Amino acid sequence: MKHTLVASLAFAAALARELLPVKILAPSADHFRDIVSNDTYDFGCRPMARPTADGQMELHALLTRDQITYLNHEYRSVDAISIREESLVKRATSAPIGTGDRFQAGTVAPVGLGTKPSGTTIASIMNVAEIKSAVGGLVTKYGVTSYNLPYATFNGATQYAAYVGAGADTSKYHLYLSAAVHARERGGPDNLVYWISDLLAANASGGGLTYGQKTYTNAQVKSVLAAGIVFFPLVNPDGVAYDQSSGALWRKNRNTKSGSSGSSVGVDINRNFDFLWNFKKYFASSVAPASTSPSSETFYGTAAASEPETKNHVSVYDKFPKIRWFLDIHSAAGDMLYSWGDDDDQSTNTAMNFLSATYDGKRGTVGDTAYKEYIPSSDLTAIKQVAAATVAAMKAVGGRSYISQQSVGLYPTSGASDDYAFSRYWAKGGAVNKVYGYTMEFGYSTNFYPTLAEFNQNILDTNAGFMDWALAAIAVGLE
Ligand SMILES: *[C@@H]1O[C@H](CO)[C@@H](O)[C@H](O)[C@H]1NC(C)=O
Ligand SMILES: *[C@@H]1O[C@H](CO)[C@@H](O)[C@H](O)[C@H]1NC(C)=O
Ligand SMILES: [Zn+2]
Repeated sequence: MKHTLVASLAFAAALARELLPVKILAPSADHFRDIVSNDTYDFGCRPMARPTADGQMELHALLTRDQITYLNHEYRSVDAISIREESLVKRATSAPIGTGDRFQAGTVAPVGLGTKPSGTTIASIMNVAEIKSAVGGLVTKYGVTSYNLPYATFNGATQYAAYVGAGADTSKYHLYLSAAVHARERGGPDNLVYWISDLLAANASGGGLTYGQKTYTNAQVKSVLAAGIVFFPLVNPDGVAYDQSSGALWRKNRNTKSGSSGSSVGVDINRNFDFLWNFKKYFASSVAPASTSPSSETFYGTAAASEPETKNHVSVYDKFPKIRWFLDIHSAAGDMLYSWGDDDDQSTNTAMNFLSATYDGKRGTVGDTAYKEYIPSSDLTAIKQVAAATVAAMKAVGGRSYISQQSVGLYPTSGASDDYAFSRYWAKGGAVNKVYGYTMEFGYSTNFYPTLAEFNQNILDTNAGFMDWALAAIAVGLE
């Protein structure tokens, strides 16, 4: 009774701010700059302009009815820009969330799609408890070690990460993957947990893996495991629990320190990392890489790494000091993003970098010369190569196409996990390992609740992507 009441209240709240998928079309990405600088709009993980088949650019967003009305009015005399609502049909048929516990309190190990006959499907998305139970199943059946992270979430959840493949010595772990930073990006934890399950099942049976048209040998499976994998499958358990019970397309965590009702609840964990976090100081005033407003989807929090989820994410680097490659799993844009995310890359001026006070107030305008972020050319070559290998594998599965690109894209971000990962080496004066950070966005633009068919296709696509990401990373180097 109580649960039903809570759920229906949450549902009513969701309807009040119902978000409608919208596609904005214009002749060039430049036409979107004004719109994307308004931090009250929701552009998914980050705003990305994409070419359309007929030579225009498109930008996806999730907007309220009021926002659509406002934009239509604002741009009514600008012929070049058109705003189109997209069909809502899909959301009604989104993949169900599991009820109960298919892994029976960690006594049954998950089995991924790569080790099952082709055409097999998984019937539902894991609920919050099942994600933990699935990891428990891997601990029970294989040599996976799971451990609790130091900080409890705002709603009191104990967080956990796990590692496998390189034994007990934590300095032998070189790959780190995390999922569900953004609560509504359904299927992220499933993609990760089923992939680890596949690696372990194939390793144990002596077999390989098959994802659609893409196959991997047992030797490749063994080499990926031997690289040492750390995984943090549910970065935002409070947000995911809320999203799964409300269907509210919830992105942030559930911290009420800065706001206690509606959209003012929560911090965007992926704007809370200690990388140019205080964007008002570091970026040009014309850009909004995050938001200081609690009701924004990109609210940056009360301090760099103010959130327990962020602190726990960072603690993994301390426990595993030789992590070299990091991948943060998001949706939904169909891309693989590489550094940097704060401005265009440049490899010629070492003094023009995120640590230099000379450039405070100048960062973040894409396409200008006032500031571009320094990246050594050898690093840039390496990270592009690994991103290209990843999307090539995802395409080769046979479902759809993906693109790799620099994460700054149309617009900058501050405080994101991928930039934080890469920045640590310089921020700490070379005293810590260099980490190459990526964001993978599976799925279709702003379609955070996949259909069951899409959910299963996402597992195949991402799992092939993870394989080639890891193999390409190994080829570039782990030490
Ligand atoms: C952002 O958009 C809202 C309406 O959707 C509008 O009221 C507000 O003035 C805009 N902000 C800026 C800075 O343009
Ligand atoms: C992989 O398989 C080998 C041989 O069966 C086994 O000894 C090893 O423990 C397995 N590795 C993991 C990480 O499960
Ligand atoms: Zn995201």
